[in-house]
Amino acid sequence: MTLRIACLPGDGIGPEVMDIAHLLLAVVSKQSGIQIDVSEYPVGQKAIDETGDPLPPETLKAALNSDAVLLGAVGGREGNWPESAVLELRRKMDVFANLRPVRTVKGVVTSFRPEVVEGTDILFIRESTAGAYFGEPKGPVQGEMRAAVDTTYYNEAQIERAARLGFGLAQQRRGSLTSVDKANVMATSRLWREVVNEVATEFSDVKVDHLLVDAASYLLIRQPQRFDVVLTENLFGDILSDEAGALVGSLGLLGSATIGESGPGLFEPVHGSAPDIAGRGIANPLGMARTVALMLSYGAGMPKEAQALDESIDRILVQGPVTPDLNPDSKAGTKEVSEALAADFESRL
Ligand code: IPM
Ligand code: MG
Repeated sequence: MTLRIACLPGDGIGPEVMDIAHLLLAVVSKQSGIQIDVSEYPVGQKAIDETGDPLPPETLKAALNSDAVLLGAVGGREGNWPESAVLELRRKMDVFANLRPVRTVKGVVTSFRPEVVEGTDILFIRESTAGAYFGEPKGPVQGEMRAAVDTTYYNEAQIERAARLGFGLAQQRRGSLTSVDKANVMATSRLWREVVNEVATEFSDVKVDHLLVDAASYLLIRQPQRFDVVLTENLFGDILSDEAGALVGSLGLLGSATIGESGPGLFEPVHGSAPDIAGRGIANPLGMARTVALMLSYGAGMPKEAQALDESIDRILVQGPVTPDLNPDSKAGTKEVSEALAADFESRL
């Protein structure tokens, strides 16, 4: 068996955290005997600089023809909007469910009292191919003064497929799903709630509840343990999942898997290109490591290896070394953490 990975390091700290993916995949290949071919393609600002296009056709083609896509981060100079590459990629790959697990590891320092966050284990499912990021019309509006419009559009099919996937995953977890919307104001949210309730009838073993997004953002940091699966639309999921990064100690620790009904998945850390720390060698590589674990699990059918990797990450988080975002006194950088993790991981396979 050969695993073909399209690797899109992107911008800022993207290429720096991608190094750990190479290290970890080399370990997997060595220990399992599976051949893993990793080919790199430009995306984002880097691709604009090289080709004028944030998502060049060769990059898209390689992504569609791969077994899995690993993305670092995308971001760049104002006005260029390289982020559009990520949205295009999600749309063209038709990966509509962005899975963002948020699990606290005991002993890791956060801004919260330990008893508030301990035991938190949430799986966010963020719909990722519709909503305000894609709806038309979108853009500047001609008129007497400067104006602009974004359109939140959802149809029942888009909601239904994300919901069905969410309920299926809730069945495999603790059997509870919280759907987040703004049904007291938004028409798309009322439709969202209606469709989620219809899908819920097919999953009688899953307990469903609904929260308005403002209340959900409050409860997320007041009582994070109350959540199991959180299902929500694109914009709300983008915001809530960054907020949830604080629960585990750093946004730099979260990975994500964006999957569809079939075809390759898109795997990327939740953090962005972090231009403020790019090039300094201090980016936290563990978000990318979690992303590789998700890829092994959802993209390569290797759940045992994925679990071993998650255990390794948990161990490094507690024993160190860790980057300064987790411990301001730490002198360890991306490379040191990456090498320690790869060595621990190798010893577990
Ligand atoms: C994320 C990012 C992207 C998004 C940006 C870069 C377009 O914030 O993956 O959460 O909003 O989806
Ligand atoms: Mg985001």
